[in-house]
Amino acid sequence: MSYDKMHRLDQNLRELADQVVNYAMERIAMQPPPLDGPKPIEEIAKMYPTNITREGLGGKEVLKRFIDSYAPATLSSDHPRFLAFVPVAPTKASILFDLIVSASSICGTSWLEAAGAVYLENEALSWLAELAGMPEGSGGTFVSGGSAGNLSGLHTGRQHQGAIRESRPSRWSIICAREAHSSIRSAAAIMDVDVFVTDGDERGRLTKIDLDKKWNSLTDQERSQIFAVVATAGTTNAGIVDDLKGAAEFAKENGLWFHVDGAYGGAALLSKEKRSLFEGIEEADSFVVDPHKWLFAPFDCAALIYREPLLAARAHMQEAAYLDDMNSIPEWNPASFAFHLTRRTRGLPFWFSLAVNGTEAYANAVQASIDLAQWTAEEISSRDYLELVMNPELSVVMFKRKGWSSQEYETWSKAALKDQIGFVLPTMHKGEKVLRFCFVNPTTTTSDVSAILDSMVWKPNWRE
Ligand SMILES: Cc1ncc(COP(=O)(O)O)c(C=O)c1O
Repeated sequence: MSYDKMHRLDQNLRELADQVVNYAMERIAMQPPPLDGPKPIEEIAKMYPTNITREGLGGKEVLKRFIDSYAPATLSSDHPRFLAFVPVAPTKASILFDLIVSASSICGTSWLEAAGAVYLENEALSWLAELAGMPEGSGGTFVSGGSAGNLSGLHTGRQHQGAIRESRPSRWSIICAREAHSSIRSAAAIMDVDVFVTDGDERGRLTKIDLDKKWNSLTDQERSQIFAVVATAGTTNAGIVDDLKGAAEFAKENGLWFHVDGAYGGAALLSKEKRSLFEGIEEADSFVVDPHKWLFAPFDCAALIYREPLLAARAHMQEAAYLDDMNSIPEWNPASFAFHLTRRTRGLPFWFSLAVNGTEAYANAVQASIDLAQWTAEEISSRDYLELVMNPELSVVMFKRKGWSSQEYETWSKAALKDQIGFVLPTMHKGEKVLRFCFVNPTTTTSDVSAILDSMVWKPNWRE
C-alpha cells in the first residue's frame, strides 16, 4: 500500500471503519460476551504463519484473523463468570467513550496539550478524593494500574521524607503487612528499599498493635530508615481492609508518609454499609484506587491521589528545555504527579460514565457485589461439600472443597474454564489451597455462582 493512503479515509478504509465499528458494537452488545480462554502457543502459532508482511494484508483479512482466531484465545475479563484475580466490568458508556479517547489523539501529559480533558479527569479525581474524605486541594493523576500508582506514591513519599529530614539514612525502608499487594514489594525493589513486614492479626489485617510491635522490635537505626507505612484498603487475596485509622496514627506518631493502597477495595467507600471500615483513609498522604477494578472503567485506569500534590510534583516533574513552556503553566500537568510523561487520558472513560450514569448507580453497583459475596458465603455454608474460609468483608469469598487435594483444585479449575463454566483460580490461605471468588461485576448473578458451585460436587479426576 502506498504510504499516504494510511492516513486517508478512502472507500476501502470506510468499509473497514464500518466493519471495525460493527464488531465493536456487537462486542459491546453481547450480554455476556464469550468467556473464551488461553490456548497453547503451538496452537496459536499454527493459526497463521505471520501477520506482519511487507505489503500488508489489508484490513478485512486482518480483522477477520483477530475476530475468528486470536480473540477466542483471549479471556473476556468482563464475563460475569470471570471471578479470578480482580476482574473488570466496564459500563457501556465508559467503553463507548474509550473509543472517542482513541479517536481524539489527546495527549494527557499537560494542561497545555489537553486543558479540557485534564479538567474533566480532575473532576473525577476530586470526586474520588472527596469520597475518601481527603481535604480540598488533594489531587493527582490517572496511571496505568495500581502497581504504577503504588510506585509513584512511594517515590513521592521517599523524596518528601528525604527533603524534610536533617539527615538521610544510608538505606530506606517501608513497613507494611504480609498481605500487602505484591506490587508494594516490587516497588520497593525498583526503589532499592527494604521492606519490614508485619504479620497482621488472625485475618492478616494490619493493625496499630501490630505496627507498634514491629516498630518496637527494630533497632534505632532500622527505625530511622523507615519512610512510609503502607496500608491496604481491601487486600487482593481476602478482601480485608487494614486498620487505616491505626495505621494513620502510627504514621503521624512516627513522622512517616502514609500510603493507602485501595486499588481493589477503595471502591467500597461507596457502600454505606462498609464505609466505616475505611475510617482513617482521609489521613492518607497518597491513595490509590483503580477504576479498572471495581469502578467500572475499561483497562487501564488507576487513580493516584495526593493530599499535597505539590510534593508529588517536586518528586516527579521532568525537566528539560523542550518541556519548559509546558512546565511553566501553573494549572495542572498530570505528567508531574507520577512516573510517566506522555499519557493517554485514561481517566476520561471513567469520568464520562460517572457523569452519564450518576454516582448513585455506582454506589448501587458496588453494593450489588458486596451483597452477592454475602449470599455466596451463605450458599457455601449451606452445601455440605464446601467450607467457607472466612466471612467476606468486601466482595472476595474464600472457600474450600472438602476432600480435595491441591491437584484436584487445579484440575477442576482448568476443566471449569475449558467447559466455559467459569474462570476461578485457587489461591493459598494460611498455607492451604483454597478457592477464591472476586466479585466486581454487577451482572454476575446468584445463578452464575450456583452453576460454578454445582460443578464442584463431583471429583474432577475423571478429566485427568
Ligand atoms: C490491592 C492491590 N494493589 C495493587 C494491585 C495492582 O494493580 P494493577 O494490576 O492495576 O497494577 C492490585 C491488583 O489486583 C491490588 O489488588
